Amino acid sequence: MNVVAFNGSARKDGNTAILLNAVLEEVRKEGIDAEPVQLAGTALQGCIACYKCFENKNKRCAVEKDEMNSYIEKMLGADGILLGSPTYFSDVSANIKALIERCGMVARANEDMLRRKVGAAVVAVRRAGATHVFSSLNYFFLIGQMIVPGSSYWNLGIGREPGEVRNDNEGMQTMANLGKNMAWLIRKLNS
Ligand SMILES: Cc1cc2nc3c(=O)[nH]c(=O)nc-3n(C[C@H](O)[C@H](O)[C@H](O)COP(=O)(O)O)c2cc1C
Repeated sequence: MNVVAFNGSARKDGNTAILLNAVLEEVRKEGIDAEPVQLAGTALQGCIACYKCFENKNKRCAVEKDEMNSYIEKMLGADGILLGSPTYFSDVSANIKALIERCGMVARANEDMLRRKVGAAVVAVRRAGATHVFSSLNYFFLIGQMIVPGSSYWNLGIGREPGEVRNDNEGMQTMANLGKNMAWLIRKLNS
């Protein structure tokens, strides 16, 4: 069993990474493998609406010029998928949006190929917009017939400079509880 966690922040070791790691720490404690994936440094293009994925039906995006298909493969091989995004102008980062558009379209073209995998969103924010980001990330899971565990609050942590999110005790606890619930759910689904 394994969980793959995509960090959509432009900062590899920033607050989103810290929040995701707090979730993964709990997942690992339950004996589930966890792989963090940094989108920083890769420029992902959005969907170009070519609809070739509906013709090819090969679980791949027809645009092969970036890393998207390796991310899709990681999702296909995982029991659980975490999407982490900072709040940028009250919305998800551009890289996470590209991941959602292209992976989401490939999934729809291939009979909801991620259905019944466990999915959860994680959001870093300085001040405002996090619940909007949280919603945007969850639309990806819910349209694809994925199963979304909850936590003790919406999955967000507050901080501006890298590391500040550690001072948000409730946010960090929310991540730990999310990790426990995610692991519990993955174990149930695999039993
Ligand atoms: C382009 C950009 C836009 C941002 N927009 C918002 C915003 O709308 N609301 C907010 O509270 N913080 C905003 N922030 C602050 C980040 O969400 C915050 O610093 C967050 O902790 C960054 O996560 P990271 O360390 O993983 O990059 C913005 C930051 C950047 C770089």
